[in-house]
Amino acid sequence: MMAAVPEIAADAVLVQSEQMPEGSEVVRGYDFNEGVDYHNVFKSLSRTGFQATSVGQSITEINRMIDCKFQEISEEKKPEVNLNPCGRELTNCTIFLSYTSNLISAGSREQIRYLVQHNMVDCLVTSAGGVEEDFIKCLAPTYIGDFSLPGKELRAKGINRIGNLLVPNSNYCLFENWLTPILDNMVDEQNEGTKWTPSKVIARLGKEMDNPDSVYYWAYKNNIPVFCPALTDGSLGDMIYFHSYQKPGLVIDIVEDIRLINSQAVYAVNTGMIILGGGVIKHHTCNANLMRNGADFSVFVNTGSEYDGSDSGARPDEAVSWGKIKLTARPVKVYGEASVILPILVGETFASRQKEFQKFYSKQKD
Ligand SMILES: NC(=O)c1ccc[n+]([C@@H]2O[C@H](COP(=O)([O-])OP(=O)(O)OC[C@H]3O[C@@H](n4cnc5c(N)ncnc54)[C@H](O)[C@@H]3O)[C@@H](O)[C@H]2O)c1
Repeated sequence: MMAAVPEIAADAVLVQSEQMPEGSEVVRGYDFNEGVDYHNVFKSLSRTGFQATSVGQSITEINRMIDCKFQEISEEKKPEVNLNPCGRELTNCTIFLSYTSNLISAGSREQIRYLVQHNMVDCLVTSAGGVEEDFIKCLAPTYIGDFSLPGKELRAKGINRIGNLLVPNSNYCLFENWLTPILDNMVDEQNEGTKWTPSKVIARLGKEMDNPDSVYYWAYKNNIPVFCPALTDGSLGDMIYFHSYQKPGLVIDIVEDIRLINSQAVYAVNTGMIILGGGVIKHHTCNANLMRNGADFSVFVNTGSEYDGSDSGARPDEAVSWGKIKLTARPVKVYGEASVILPILVGETFASRQKEFQKFYSKQKD
């Protein structure tokens, strides 16, 4: 006689399923029988699962920021229009774009420059390398290398490595030659009453570079403030250090800039944060948004994990607990390397809506 299936095992396997909630998305990835159609590939990401779904959700969230930007500012909010001391024209959504230095060393710089050139974002936050590497690239190129090139050999050749990128030391000499006379003038202007801040220094360097390849040339042209509270933690700091022996006295005030970045959030109607990487750039952006009780839209892209308690790895939910993201927001975090993800995000949002931006700005001028 055959033994019956033990009741406990049958019960364990035959648990009744509840009906899935209405509108539940079905997992279905892109089928290349439909051709090589990248727009449809990217459209299918949200239904693919794992980080593909997060990338798809980020596309949706950034498009929500843009939709909000294009809406008219309500009558009750209009009095706030002139309160932002940077003088940039207020729209219904102020978009913060923040990125670590290495993304300017990498080719992500070109996508960041595109967004700034077309006035699609309102406020930039980066670290010192993210400022200087943009200018250095206008003077001499950065090259593709390899993560495994030995430091000892590179040092002997005067070549510096950033991940799998290579920057000859001579690039920094060109940078110093370009920067020194500007620093001389800045000291003279300070003696005549100018008060320098990191954002004013970056705008001045963007103006002096006068090169459309530069992110900060366009930031200067479009009156997009750039914040970098640790401006001296990079080659810029080395140059400022050496220069202080030739012509001492330069003062760069970070207090005026904390007022200015917080004002970008406080006097905004709505805010969106697109934060690529972690560290100071991530916290500085979120902290400014705390001053308005949280950002309305948020997308984080980084490789950080939360188990070490770092701010870099903290999920958006941690920022909600601090009031840096609104309780009503639908923030997204993508665990991934930004140089791969940024072109997808830009292509599926800002870049495919470039005409809408042109129309929006031409209407604003009328
Ligand atoms: N090219 C350079 O990277 C460079 C050049 C000069 C100076 N520096 C200085 O080094 C210091 C530290 O740099 P930082 O604050 O820009 O950030 P970082 O390089 O220390 O990165 C901070 C965190 O961001 C995340 N992250 C970094 N790159 C990422 C990527 N490509 N994709 C996804 N996540 C990423 C990681 O979690 C990382 O731990 C700064 O003061 C900076 O000025 C950097």
